[in-house]
Amino acid sequence: MNTIITGLQWGDEGKGKIVDYLTESADVVIRSQGGNNAGHTVITNGTKYILHLLPSGVLWDGKINVIGNGVVIDPVGLVEEIQRIEAQGVAITPDKLLISDRAHIVLPIHKELDGAREIALGPHKIGTTKRGIGPAYADKINRCGLRVADFADTAYVTARITLRVAEANEIFARYGMPTFEAAAICAEVLAAFERLRPHVSNTIAVLHAAWKADQSLLFEGAQGTLLDVDFGTYPFVTSSNTTAGGACTGSGLPPMAIQRVIGVCKAYTTRVGSGPFPTADAGLSDYLHGLGREFGATTGRPRSCGWLDTVLLRFACMVNGVTDLAVTNLDGLDAYHTLEICTGYSIDGTLHTLPPAARDAWDRAVPVYEQLPGWNCDTTACTTYRELPAQAQAYLARLADLCGAPIAFVGVGPDRAQTIAF
Ligand code: GDP
Ligand code: IMO
Ligand code: MG
Repeated sequence: MNTIITGLQWGDEGKGKIVDYLTESADVVIRSQGGNNAGHTVITNGTKYILHLLPSGVLWDGKINVIGNGVVIDPVGLVEEIQRIEAQGVAITPDKLLISDRAHIVLPIHKELDGAREIALGPHKIGTTKRGIGPAYADKINRCGLRVADFADTAYVTARITLRVAEANEIFARYGMPTFEAAAICAEVLAAFERLRPHVSNTIAVLHAAWKADQSLLFEGAQGTLLDVDFGTYPFVTSSNTTAGGACTGSGLPPMAIQRVIGVCKAYTTRVGSGPFPTADAGLSDYLHGLGREFGATTGRPRSCGWLDTVLLRFACMVNGVTDLAVTNLDGLDAYHTLEICTGYSIDGTLHTLPPAARDAWDRAVPVYEQLPGWNCDTTACTTYRELPAQAQAYLARLADLCGAPIAFVGVGPDRAQTIAF
């Protein structure tokens, strides 16, 4: 059985934890889009790992982890991440990690361009992670990007980077920002690439061989449906297809290779960065931040928090073809008396049960809520669905009903072990 794990909200749903949990019964774990804008937290046996570009399957021995062609790779960032994870006792060997020769490269100037654009946008900024993701994908689509396979030819890489730095410098000069030396950037990127070279592979051939051999493939999504460049709250989105389709284009495996799509959502909603968030609730944000929860894994920014929004979830289940839900962070609601679930948006007096496209419609969307009683007890030690309090079971049942998909997993704590399988 081959499975996509996809985020149904604005990212940080707990995808990494679910991927890690399911890796035990998988052979290959594949990242197919995004870059080190992602931050996936996995806690196992009391040790916390934060993964950005490395698939969350690296924490298991004997599994193949693939960074697919659809990912944008910051070589300097990836080497730092490998070193950090290796310092935690996890070896990242060439048989464990394969990097697609077709993946695109994030250069240091892409990060600077990302930051410059945010400054120029001022109050309209996207609130990006400043990891250069948008500019790197823009170069890919604009056919001026650099790919992993290009590193077989140092002279070509040097010439391409030199040209790209000269173009970027014109923009930095316009913004009154410092410009960059192409030679220094070439040296930094080429040096980092040497650590990655043994991992480079024709991952499309590897994945097809695994598929034909009936191995179990697990696709790890990054970001979430509402950050998808087509389906999200544009322009407050990331620059890739975060939804299920991205797993195919970003890996080279066809749709018929995939049987299951697990949509991951929190039992409430969170968002980092700018953009619409109809169910945002300052009280819930303060409460969760007070518990030390909901700070971003990549940038440390506090995430805005709000009530469960089934308008988003219903849409996300549609566009991803979700077959099963994984609901994480149920324990975050343990101490609340009354819980709100958004079932629709009222926009100019008309009820909408799917998200609008227009930016100004989002601004006028007023959530329509129904209330459910809380359970007011600790769920973090529950190991089966039956052990969950009746009110929590009712909350989950209503969530599944409103989304039109069954629940397969519930998270009641950050540790791998705090996962209930139905
Ligand atoms: P991802 O980007 O989708 O992998 O999610 P992140 O790791 O960025 O954010 C999810 C956060 O919730 C992390 O801090 C996880 O450790 C934590 N987490 C995941 N599932 C649960 C859960 O069921 N309960 C609790 N308390 N924390 C969880
Ligand atoms: P994971 O995989 C949450 C958000 C940024 C910003 C927007 C664009 O951990 O769920 P970008 O740097 O991608 O150009 O930023 O997308 N964003 C995320 N938010 N989780 C993520 O990844 C995110 N990756 C990007 O905050 O709003
Ligand atoms: Mg995250």
